[in-house]
Amino acid sequence: MDHPDVLAWRDGHIEALDQTALPHQVRTLRIGTVDELVRAITSLAIRGAPVLGAAGALGVALAVRQGSGEGWDDTRLAAEIARIAAARPTAVNLSREVAAVAARIGDGTAAVEGAALAVLESTGATSLRISARGAEYLLQACGDGPLRVHTHCNTGALACLGWGTALGVIRALHVAGALSHVIVDETRPLLQGARLTCWELGQLGIEHQLACDGAAPFLISQGRADAVVVGADRIAANGDVANKIGTYSLALAARQAGIPFVVAAPESTIDAATPSGAAIPIEQRADEEVTAPAAPAGTRALNLAFDITPAELVTAVVTEERLIPGGRPA
Ligand code: MRU
Repeated sequence: MDHPDVLAWRDGHIEALDQTALPHQVRTLRIGTVDELVRAITSLAIRGAPVLGAAGALGVALAVRQGSGEGWDDTRLAAEIARIAAARPTAVNLSREVAAVAARIGDGTAAVEGAALAVLESTGATSLRISARGAEYLLQACGDGPLRVHTHCNTGALACLGWGTALGVIRALHVAGALSHVIVDETRPLLQGARLTCWELGQLGIEHQLACDGAAPFLISQGRADAVVVGADRIAANGDVANKIGTYSLALAARQAGIPFVVAAPESTIDAATPSGAAIPIEQRADEEVTAPAAPAGTRALNLAFDITPAELVTAVVTEERLIPGGRPA
């Protein structure tokens, strides 16, 4: 799958693969307003930390265009841009890239569009570098393979452009002939693992098995994986990692089993301004995502979209620039 299929800027519109429809339908959304973009982000039609960053960058260009057509004043434009940045709170990439592109507004529309397109381009290139570095590290840490890798959620091209972060590392191992197979957690409640990761791995011809989230720690304890590799939505200054709910249990299981727990993420996911995981805002989503279709009417849910893995459980963070052993950025 190519970047332009996942996320693109065409004729002043954002075009994005609708990730809520996959794998059964491959359909593209054409987004021309801030309202439409915020809806696409909150519904998870557009999702995954690096893609959220790129979509937020394009969103600023979209807001500037919409605002000049509709005669918004500076206050209205700033409010619309703030709405994009706040559409999902946990992945720092979204607010970071929105702020970076919004800082160019004084330089004119062309400068804003240029800055947004630069974010789009660099997102894919960055993920390719993470993929290569992560595969090299895993082969050092675990031996020559072929490796069995356990992963969670979706961290491939759909989430990151290019090859992905954790899934990019897995793809690089596959290309090097050093991958045995992948165990994919289904990733409750929105099934990014079952719907999206299995779809991407199938397209790449990479052998994989789908597991229930609740089975993951036991599977790891049974010696069925050589390493756990996941992405991140935000890495605090002390190395605590926010990622899709269910990640923490994998880290605990990996520690207990004595296998590496590796986080693959761009530098832009490291948030020096957030001292520890306790300060990371955790998105809480609608009850119905968990209660439907099985729970009795009126059941309340505790639907946290992300969890925090303490730095001490992280064997290494791999970025496009460096390997951070112990996961604590300097
Ligand atoms: O709620 P989602 O689907 O946006 O959550 C995505 C994840 O948790 C990914 O693991 C994370 O964004 C890293 S993607 C490289």
